[in-house]
Amino acid sequence: MPQTASHTAHAKVILFGEHSAVYGGPAIALPLEGLTLTATSRPSAGPITLESAFYSGPIGAMPQSMAAPAVALHKTLEYIGAPFDGLSIRVEGMIPAGRGLGSSAAVAAAISGALAKSYGVALDGDTAFEFVQAAEREAHGNPSGLDARAVITNTPIFFRAGNVDRLPINLDAVFVIGDTGVSAQTRSAVAAVADLLRTEPQRVGAAFALINTHTETAVEDLAAGRAAVLGKRMNSVHEQLRELGVSTSTVDALVEASLTAGAFGAKLTGGGLGGCVLALAPRDRAVGVADALRRNGAVSAWFLDANIDSVSCVCDDHPRHRPEPI
Ligand code: MEV
Repeated sequence: MPQTASHTAHAKVILFGEHSAVYGGPAIALPLEGLTLTATSRPSAGPITLESAFYSGPIGAMPQSMAAPAVALHKTLEYIGAPFDGLSIRVEGMIPAGRGLGSSAAVAAAISGALAKSYGVALDGDTAFEFVQAAEREAHGNPSGLDARAVITNTPIFFRAGNVDRLPINLDAVFVIGDTGVSAQTRSAVAAVADLLRTEPQRVGAAFALINTHTETAVEDLAAGRAAVLGKRMNSVHEQLRELGVSTSTVDALVEASLTAGAFGAKLTGGGLGGCVLALAPRDRAVGVADALRRNGAVSAWFLDANIDSVSCVCDDHPRHRPEPI
C-alpha cells in the first residue's frame, strides 16, 4: 500500500558548456536550491491522476506536452513493480518553464522521486538520473544528460559525457540570473545547432573548441576565485553561442545591460532562443546588475551566491519579481 510522500527537485544554471555538451564537450552547472518544485503523491482510488498547472487529470489522458514527465512516471512505476493506479500526484513549484533553468528535468525528477518514496523505494543516483534522462530524451530528443544530472545534484558540477565531478568554488562574487520572460524549447535550439553543424561544420567546430577550452580552464578560476577572468570567459562564450545562432536580440540586450551595470561578464544560459541570462557581478554591484536587468525587460532576477562554501549555493528570488508558478 503506497504512502503519502513528497520529493523536491531544484533548478540549475549552466555556467559553461551548453550545446557543446551535446557533442561530448565538458560543462559546468550550478544548483539553484532556492528555486524548486515538489511532487507529492497520495494514495487515492482509481487510475493515477496528475495535478499541475499544465494538466490535471488521469495520466492515461495526458497531452503531448506532458509526454516527458509521463516517461519518468512510467519508468519509475515499472522499476518499482507498482500498479498504474491508486495514487494522485500533485506538482507545484516556482521554476519557470522553458527558461533554460531545468524545469522539465526537475518535474521528472520530482515525480519519479515522490513515486519511489511512496512505495518505500530508495533510488540510487544513477537510477534517478536514468529516469530523468529518459524524460529529457522525450522532451528534446538528444540530451547530453547535463540537465538530468544537474537537477538531482546539490553541488556545482563539472560534467563530461554523462559523468559528474563535484566542483569546488571559492568566489567572492555573485551570480545574477535575469529571465527574459521568453519561453524557448531546448529541442528547437539543439536542432538549430545540429542543422548548422551539418551545413557549416568548421564554423561550429571552431566555436565548440573555444567553448570547451573556456570550460576546462574555468575550473581552476572557480577554485582560485578569479572572478574577472571568469567574466571574460563568459563574454567570450556568449559570443560563440551567438555564432551558433542560439542567442536573440532580447538575450543580447540583457547581456549588454549587465555589463554596463558593472558585471564581470554575462552570457545566455541553457538552450537559448529566449530563456535566461547569467551574469557574474562584484558583490557590491549585484543588486545594480539585477536592477539593470529588470529595467531592460527581465521579468525576474535571482541571486546565486557561490561563496557560502565550496559546495553550497543559495538562490533568492527577488520579492518584487517572483516568477509565475509552474
Ligand atoms: C540545455 O539546458 C542544455 C543543452 O546543452 C542541451 C543538453 O545539454 O542536453 C542545450
